[in-house]
Amino acid sequence: MTQDVTDRRDRPLRDLRISLTDRCNFRCSYCMPKALFGADHAFLPRHQLLSFEEIARLAGVFASLGVRKLRLTGGEPLLRRDLETLIGLLRDIDGIDDISLTTNASLLTRDKARALRAAGLDRLTVSLDGIDDATFRAMNDVGFPVAKVLAGIDHAEAAGLGPIKINMVVQKGVNDGDILPMAGHFRGTAHIVRFIEYMDVGNSNGWRLDQVIPSRDVVDRINARWPIEPLAPNYRGEVAERYRYRDGAGEVGLISSVTQPFCRTCQRARLSAEGQLFTCLFASHGHDLRERLRRGDSDAALHEALTTVWSQRDDRYSELRTAGEQPIDSRRIEMSYIGG
Ligand code: GTP
Ligand code: 5AD
Ligand code: SF4
Ligand code: SF4
Repeated sequence: MTQDVTDRRDRPLRDLRISLTDRCNFRCSYCMPKALFGADHAFLPRHQLLSFEEIARLAGVFASLGVRKLRLTGGEPLLRRDLETLIGLLRDIDGIDDISLTTNASLLTRDKARALRAAGLDRLTVSLDGIDDATFRAMNDVGFPVAKVLAGIDHAEAAGLGPIKINMVVQKGVNDGDILPMAGHFRGTAHIVRFIEYMDVGNSNGWRLDQVIPSRDVVDRINARWPIEPLAPNYRGEVAERYRYRDGAGEVGLISSVTQPFCRTCQRARLSAEGQLFTCLFASHGHDLRERLRRGDSDAALHEALTTVWSQRDDRYSELRTAGEQPIDSRRIEMSYIGG
């Protein structure tokens, strides 16, 4: 049974992003600052996480509402043991035609990359905020070397998971010196670096607008060094604006959630590791699906509940923030809890 649903702004539900854990082995200061995520931080206990079977069952119901793409995130999703088992379950769901994973690649060994690919993972996105070793070690705040992430990217490519998207969140005065070196490093490969405007997600990063480098400036900087030109989107609602190097050395992307919000075509829902459904990255509360699963709701009942939630959705936080209309004091979910 497939019955597509649209929200109050006529947006369908096409993507589901699934967070597998709220833990991470990095402590990027804009996401999990050590001061707030130290040894005494209470992460979710295991029994509160959805099991792989529970996730796959929910994904099946989401597919029956129109979801076609799944993205697995965290925290760091490779911290979930036997992740390939989950990918195998998701692969078998009717209607799902794209399964991708966002990871920091620190745990991506050759064998892991092969196992993920063999289980049916289609694509991989690697979060990498610096290409200079000292900058990167400082940003992840656990001294993790950039060379090991690059090795993970190589393993993924060798396993058939390429071309790989490399996500760099740009913060003024922190890593903007790495914009050109990052572009230069991946120029001439099939990988696509995407420069992301630093967003005001969560409550822990103390975001300020003056820490954002607008994508326009990033384009100008790259264009001055290696001329680039815009490309058409790959699909409706694509978050990144695409550019190609005029000399044929590949492609980069710009994600401008602050200066050019893309709420109008937002077809993404997010599921937390404990089974809370969020209809916006900036939502302050979710809908408890774990409770429904564990009390024995049927697929039809879940389908109905999800239809109700999505058809009432009116979210467009980034658009409102850009227009200066967002509520200032709302508590929000953390990025480490819900993924990107
Ligand atoms: P593709 O399927 O490869 O096109 O993936 P994607 O670009 O849609 O997803 P990805 O997770 O790589 O998104 C990159 C970044 O864009 C995220 O880390 C966020 O910073 C930002 N982003 C993605 N989705 C949203 C969204 O719905 N709202 C906002 N405000 N930002 C988003
Ligand atoms: N602004 C923009 N992107 C962010 N991410 C995490 N925090 C932020 C933020 N404040 C992105 C990271 C990572 C993904 C999981 O979310 O780049 O790729
Ligand atoms: Fe971990 Fe990614 Fe957050 Fe860094 S940004 S702490 S790698 S989840
Ligand atoms: Fe979608 Fe909310 Fe992001 Fe807008 S701010 S694009 S509605 S998740």
